[in-house]
Amino acid sequence: MFMYRLYRRRKQKKKRLSTQGKLLAKIAKEIELPKKKCIFADEIQILLRMKKIALLIVLAAMTLGATAQDCCSKAKNETKKDCCSKSNETKQCKTMKALVTYFSASGVTRNAANELAGIIGADLFEITPEKLYTDADLNWRDKKSRSTLEMNDKTSRPALKDGGKVKNLAQYDVVYVGFPIWWYTAPTIINTFLEANDFTGKTIVPFATSGGSSIDQACKDLKAAYPKYKFGDGKLLNRINKADIEKWAATVK
Ligand SMILES: Cc1cc2nc3c(=O)[nH]c(=O)nc-3n(C[C@H](O)[C@H](O)[C@H](O)COP(=O)(O)O)c2cc1C
Repeated sequence: MFMYRLYRRRKQKKKRLSTQGKLLAKIAKEIELPKKKCIFADEIQILLRMKKIALLIVLAAMTLGATAQDCCSKAKNETKKDCCSKSNETKQCKTMKALVTYFSASGVTRNAANELAGIIGADLFEITPEKLYTDADLNWRDKKSRSTLEMNDKTSRPALKDGGKVKNLAQYDVVYVGFPIWWYTAPTIINTFLEANDFTGKTIVPFATSGGSSIDQACKDLKAAYPKYKFGDGKLLNRINKADIEKWAATVK
C-alpha cells in the first residue's frame, strides 16, 4: 500500500512538472525569447520576472504621470496651491478650497460675491448684521447716521447675526472677504467679522464694490489691523470680468 502511494505521488509530480514545462515553453514562445535550442526553466523565470518588472515600471510611470497631470492641469473652478512647484512634496499639490464671504448693505456687493463664487467654484457666506442697515443708516450726508457714527469710531464693532461665526471654517484655505467701500475703507462690521473667526493659516482676499473709490486704502487698513493674518491682493469688483477674476484667483497662494 505504502509503495503504491509512493508510486502514485511520483507519477503525479512527474505530470505536474511536465505541465509546468509546457506552460513555461508556451510563455517563452509568447514573449518571443531569442531562438535558443535549449531554454532552461531558470532562464525563463528570470525573463518572466524582467517582463513583470518592466510592466510594473510602465504602470508606475503611467500612475505618476496621471497624478502629475491631475495636479498640474488647471481644472475648472479650482485653484492649486503651489502646484507642482515641488513635485516630490504631495502636500504642495493640494487643491485650495475657497469661501466667499461678503457684507452688503444694499445688494451690490452681494451680486459681485455671487458672481465671484460662481466663477471660482467657492462656497458662499453672508456676513449679516444683527440689525440690518436702513436707508437712513446709510445716509453718508447725515453726520449722525449709523454708518457715519460707526465709521467715525474705529473701535466700533457692529454686532453680527449668530456672532458672525463661519461653520466649518477649518476646511477652507482661502477666504474672500467682500464689502462696500465706506469712506474709502472697509465698514467696521468687517472688523467684527475678522475678529469673530480665526483665520490663522488661511489667506484672506479682500474684494469690494464702490461708487468709484479704489480698494487700496481698505486693504492697507485691514493688513495694518491684522498683521498676524496673511492677505492676498484685493480687487475692486465694480465690473465683473470672468477672465480677469480667474487670473486674479489663480495668483492667490
Ligand atoms: C456710508 C457710505 C459710505 C460710502 N463711501 C464711499 C466711498 O468712500 N467711496 C465710494 O466710491 N463709494 C462709497 N460709497 C458707495 C458704496 O461703496 C457703493 O454704493 C457700494 O457698491 C454699495 O455696496 P452694497 O450695495 O453692497 O452695500 C459709500 C456708501 C455708503 C452707504
